[in-house]
Amino acid sequence: MTDGNGTLAWWQTGIIYQIYPLSFQDSDGDGRGDLPGILHRLDYLADLNIAAVWLSPVFASPMRDFGYDVADYTSIHPWFGTLSDFDRLLAGLHGRGIKLILDLVPNHTSDRHPWFLESRSSRDNPRRDWYLWRDPAPGGGPPNNWLSFFGGPAWTYDETTGQYYLHQFTPEQPELNLRHPAVLEAMLEVMRFWLDRGVDGFRVDVPWLLIKDAGFRDEPENPAWDGIDPHGRLLHIHTAHQPELHRIIRAMRAVVDGYPGERVLIGETNVPEEELVKYYGAARDEFHLPFNFRLIHAPWDARKIRQMVETYEAILPQRASPAWVLGNHDQPRIASRFGPDAARVATMLLLTLRGTPTCYYGDELGMENGVIPRDRIRDPQALNQPGISGVFNRDEARTPLPWDTSPNAGFAPEGVDPWLPLGEDWPMRNVARQAADPRSMLALFRALTRLRQCHPALSHGSYESVDTKADGVFAYKRTAGAERLLIVLDFAGSEHLLDSGELADGAEILLSTGMRRTGRVDLRRLRLLSNEGLILKIS
Ligand code: NOJ
Repeated sequence: MTDGNGTLAWWQTGIIYQIYPLSFQDSDGDGRGDLPGILHRLDYLADLNIAAVWLSPVFASPMRDFGYDVADYTSIHPWFGTLSDFDRLLAGLHGRGIKLILDLVPNHTSDRHPWFLESRSSRDNPRRDWYLWRDPAPGGGPPNNWLSFFGGPAWTYDETTGQYYLHQFTPEQPELNLRHPAVLEAMLEVMRFWLDRGVDGFRVDVPWLLIKDAGFRDEPENPAWDGIDPHGRLLHIHTAHQPELHRIIRAMRAVVDGYPGERVLIGETNVPEEELVKYYGAARDEFHLPFNFRLIHAPWDARKIRQMVETYEAILPQRASPAWVLGNHDQPRIASRFGPDAARVATMLLLTLRGTPTCYYGDELGMENGVIPRDRIRDPQALNQPGISGVFNRDEARTPLPWDTSPNAGFAPEGVDPWLPLGEDWPMRNVARQAADPRSMLALFRALTRLRQCHPALSHGSYESVDTKADGVFAYKRTAGAERLLIVLDFAGSEHLLDSGELADGAEILLSTGMRRTGRVDLRRLRLLSNEGLILKIS
């Protein structure tokens, strides 16, 4: 595909689909999803019309943070299968024209990783400075006031050597010293291992934390703290956004670029916009796609979302692709945040904005947050902070994908206890049922992804806001060559009569989130139903 300025890469036009492997499909009856399970569902993935699958971590791990605590970067955790299973899955996906992206966790390892075992064994071990060790503060206690995202101090004391090590997540996730050339080289070697095997790229975990202040200075109090999130009490000026981290990302990018075939580097950049754009790199030599999380944090408000999209479009470097996300394994489900009707409009928004959308497994069914009984909570963030776990724990967004109405929803065999409970609505909300219902969320999702494939204006056209003068409506034009599409979305849950006559007299409905309307409409008197989104072809 070309945009007139040259050929576009697959990651500029396609859709990325995130699979949380533990919850996709169990093939061996242990109640946990695995790689052969994903392979078994290739038809389903192909029918979603996606360009790539991103797998959350599948590497050897004690699973304190469900794979984000890696004990061996180049082997597969037995829960998920073997390296041969991995190769089969990769070949299977490639056979369907689907790329595979792995999760790279370079900021920290598991405390069981051999590197850390060596590092903690003595102060003069050659790997001591592969991690961040500090003496206690004068008078005792942690070396400084840095906090963990999962509650409490970011430091744990190690009796053996009498020093503290840094961890901004669980104490079982010690942080690597990426300033050390050998550590960076080891991580780049991990990337080469998987790229040589044929993977198409990486999603890089918490890149904004990769480098910390060399002087380990205390962080100042946050005057605007909400009093709820303990981590928000400080301003993270010494642990986040250190300019030197961009050198690390450039080194990763150079590795990816050294391979043929459009490999991609994606960043989990959950950072404010003005920081976010820096992650493309001054010479466009960092992330191809730094994720933009702003839609996740935004209220469901047409004016605010329009403003957010316009701001981002305005500050993006030239010819950079936005990378919008609306959900992932750390966030409440879209349908629970906005409600089931608005979730359909939100999906149309995500799949029609300019750039590369990433969709989280199960959102194509409109899955809602699961109900997790207290004694089944597994998320270390929630377990460590019971005070805020009443609000949301990440397990709620990680429940098994319901496939059909057979026992355990076809996720796991009968009689097996899935690792997390199925969402309570699975008998009604499952793939088989929705595949047979032309008005289901799944049908809408597939119709949207098909449209993106057929209409260059959607896959790579330009973006322009359209002023409808109606409160609660967000509208925009996507244009490629002679093709002009108009997207009109109701955010207010009310009906509108819109006049967009300045664009043209008439248009053809390509898709309504209601899945019922087709045919031509008069743009001077365009009726938009409550909680409806429309894609119109202007002619
Ligand atoms: C971000 C990941 O998305 C999250 O699940 C994990 O807990 C932290 N990084 C730590 O790796």
